[in-house]
Amino acid sequence: MQAKINPSILSADFVNLESELERISNADAVHVDVMDGHFVPNLTIGLPVVTRIAEVSPIPLDIHLMIEDADRWAPKYAELGVASVTFHYETALNPIQVAKNIGVSGAKPAMAIKPATSVQQIADIVESLDMVLVMTVEPGFGGQSFMEEQLEKVSYLRRYFPELDIQVDGGISKETIAKAASAGANVFVAGSAVYGSENPALEVELLRKLASVAL
Ligand code: DX5
Ligand code: ZN
Repeated sequence: MQAKINPSILSADFVNLESELERISNADAVHVDVMDGHFVPNLTIGLPVVTRIAEVSPIPLDIHLMIEDADRWAPKYAELGVASVTFHYETALNPIQVAKNIGVSGAKPAMAIKPATSVQQIADIVESLDMVLVMTVEPGFGGQSFMEEQLEKVSYLRRYFPELDIQVDGGISKETIAKAASAGANVFVAGSAVYGSENPALEVELLRKLASVAL
């Protein structure tokens, strides 16, 4: 499996998104965190801004929806022609139907679980998904510390779903990425590690190398 690095623009300069996207044009996809101030205690951007990002981005979009009413909103993001749309298990009324609706537009359906959600309870849904996102911080903010104990969920998923894309998000850096890759993750979101460095493109390369070796 190949290691994919998806920088999160949550840590980018929101006033200069187009040039911030150019700085990570060597990444596999750009991770776009959509927050509604209800599901998580933070508010970011919504459909109009994500629509423009999709139009100008040199790389595919990986949408992470941290919003209530995923059933209603997830398909609308999928219609933008993005690579993947991730909704949260905790906010979806009918996760399998949401996944199907995302897939109709050609986007990969993915589902995220918060740190308090057990992985066993989503086992029946996984076969409807292309990717599962195991949160390695409490969703809502960048720059938090990596929750290593969440990697047990990654190992569990990798054991039972060898082909599944497993994404980790939160606290991923040069110090933590190898642990996550060894547990079985193959898609890595990094916000502050990439945009906090002087050369984001170089940081993407370094992270990819560290993850590939561990994978
Ligand atoms: C947090 C977001 C992350 C965030 C990660 O809720 O889902 O994507 O940008 O930031 P870092 O990499 O700084 O932990
Ligand atoms: Zn995210």
